[in-house]
Amino acid sequence: MSRIAYVNGRYLPHRHATVHVEDRGFQFADAAYEVIAVKDGDLIDEGLHLRRLARSLGELRITRPMSDAAFGVVMREVIRRNGVDEGIIYVQVSRGAAPRDFAFPRGVRPSVVMTSRRHRGPDPRHARDGVAVITIRDIRWARPDIKSVALLPNALGKQQAKEAGAYEAWQVDPEGRVTEGTSSNAWIITAADEVITRQADHSILNGVTRVGLIDLLAQAGLRLVERPFTVAEAKAAREAFLTSTTNFVLPVVRIDEAPVGEGKPGPVVARLRETYLSYTAEQGIGR
Ligand code: PDD
Repeated sequence: MSRIAYVNGRYLPHRHATVHVEDRGFQFADAAYEVIAVKDGDLIDEGLHLRRLARSLGELRITRPMSDAAFGVVMREVIRRNGVDEGIIYVQVSRGAAPRDFAFPRGVRPSVVMTSRRHRGPDPRHARDGVAVITIRDIRWARPDIKSVALLPNALGKQQAKEAGAYEAWQVDPEGRVTEGTSSNAWIITAADEVITRQADHSILNGVTRVGLIDLLAQAGLRLVERPFTVAEAKAAREAFLTSTTNFVLPVVRIDEAPVGEGKPGPVVARLRETYLSYTAEQGIGR
């Protein structure tokens, strides 16, 4: 089955799926995006993702190109045409194509691109054995809460992690406190069973997985504290983990050279992972 992309109203084979060279997404990273998980052929947390997309577009003053209902129809069509039962859909909205000028063009229609592919979630060994993270300076702009496609610092950080033999890089602010991963949110669990993650202000992306998991914590009998934590605190934590649409909940067992706890996945993260996976599985039921 050849892969099909949606580009500005048309469903096209990938080799013909192109945007204009003067698209502002390409020229200025003037675009917002979402990555949504597909499970049993349906979208996980569609409403939360569309709400966040609307927020990102609003913050960037990009006109919303279609209603949430229309997004739902097109996304499902892209999934269907690509035969994706389990995987992801990528949705990108740019300000549109216009002669290159930093200021916003007038009367331009936003560009909408969607692609979808199969993806079975992270390698099961990562959930079983846990993953390593390195810590790096957070060199991003001051609004990572907007899910913009300006991802160069994130790409550089992820590459640095890969070259260090790690799975993710946790970005650190000038005060030595972790903001988030390059494509995931960062969490620790203290000896007092407190689950700590940075508050969702302008310094991090408010992950949809983060929001979903926060709702499940009380049910799991755990206390949430939303505050920044330092790298030293993370290294001394009992357990640590990361969350994202593509990873769900993954145990972190090493931070730089320091093992977290006993250097293997702990029971609380294992429980949270199971709880979150059941939550996503339940979403497909009864729709
Ligand atoms: N990344 N922080 C950053 C910087 C991210 O890019 C992401 C998501 C997250 C987690 O958000 P969510 O739970 O909504 O996926 C946190 C996506 C998956 C990506 O860019 O591929």
